[in-house]
Amino acid sequence: MKALVLEEKKKLSLRDFPIAETLGPYDVKIQIKACGICGSDVHYYLEGAIGDFIVRDPMILGHEAAGIIIEKGEQVTDLALGDLVCMEPGIPNRRSHEVMEGMYNIDPEVVFWATPPIHGCLRETVVHPAQFCFKLPKGMSAAEGAMMEPLAIGIEAAKKAALKPGDTALVVGCGTIGVMCAISALAGGAAKVFISDVKQEKLAIAGAYDKNIIPVNTAKTDLVEFITKETGGKGCNVIFEASGNPRVYPDFFRCAKKGGKVVLVGMMNGTVPIDVAFLQGRGLSIETIFRYINCFDRAVALVNSGKIEIKRFISKTFPFEEAIAAYEYAAAGHPEVVKVMIEL
Ligand SMILES: NC(=O)c1ccc[n+]([C@@H]2O[C@H](COP(=O)([O-])OP(=O)(O)OC[C@H]3O[C@@H](n4cnc5c(N)ncnc54)[C@H](O)[C@@H]3O)[C@@H](O)[C@H]2O)c1
Ligand SMILES: [Zn+2]
Repeated sequence: MKALVLEEKKKLSLRDFPIAETLGPYDVKIQIKACGICGSDVHYYLEGAIGDFIVRDPMILGHEAAGIIIEKGEQVTDLALGDLVCMEPGIPNRRSHEVMEGMYNIDPEVVFWATPPIHGCLRETVVHPAQFCFKLPKGMSAAEGAMMEPLAIGIEAAKKAALKPGDTALVVGCGTIGVMCAISALAGGAAKVFISDVKQEKLAIAGAYDKNIIPVNTAKTDLVEFITKETGGKGCNVIFEASGNPRVYPDFFRCAKKGGKVVLVGMMNGTVPIDVAFLQGRGLSIETIFRYINCFDRAVALVNSGKIEIKRFISKTFPFEEAIAAYEYAAAGHPEVVKVMIEL
């Protein structure tokens, strides 16, 4: 079938790629209709690796997708042919210790699309367990469905923050993931969400979403001073670190209210300084997230309820035939872009 293949670092081709997939009794076969480009896809494209995950053989990219069910196994009862679904891209080993402990997201045996050596889903069809497919309600498009993957990260972060109604939050970093954290925090009950970045174009997008999202340009404004002043010296109940920039450490902790929660979302290589005595003195707790646990149904429900408007974050759409151009566009890193989408 036709697929977008990363042949090697910086070399993509849209070509026929043989994949033998068998449909098990609990699986569905999906005709892919939309697939977003994630920061990790761009990273594999430009660098050929993320940490220990190295692209050694040609690999199909893409893990943020939605499509139509065109075949199903005999045991699949809750989905029908013709249903439009979005898919959770990682399938854990159901016998693993982590799954038993309720942390399927960190199962080391997880099979996750477009993480070498596993192929992604930017291709004509995929076979996937029905358990990891989520039916989209009427009125929701495939492209919106593909946005449920990055949104699930924001929802997982909001869950870990244990947000309470009326909380004040701060998101450090206004990239795609920072925006997903901000809108999830708002939908989860935060009264006000500050969001910081050094790029004004990014902040403008987040600020236009809702009057309770307050952009802070830290290229011009001191974050700690600003938050301290805006919160009457108290700080924020919840902080999401979503920049992945080690240089924001350890300063941003000073924006937290006593007893507050800090959720580390941004990833990085290497280590960062943390002032333990400061954290202890403020009674702060630190949470981390890795991907998501049972968030896709919540993401779909929030969009369906109108509490989250996701469409506006699809910045540019390319047809499948122009998938390589789409990747080049995403890799150029236009600051006004939240998500580049490919439609099939
Ligand atoms: N934990 C997880 O499961 C998970 C999942 C997806 C992504 N991530 C991580 O989340 C982070 C963000 O991902 P993304 O796709 O949004 O990346 P991105 O590059 O689009 O966004 C990062 C943003 O941080 C901003 N930034 C850089 N330095 C800053 C600073 N000093 N202060 C404020 N903002 C600053 C950048 O301008 C950019 O807008 C990355 O580290 C990524 O690896 C984590
Ligand atoms: Zn993604």
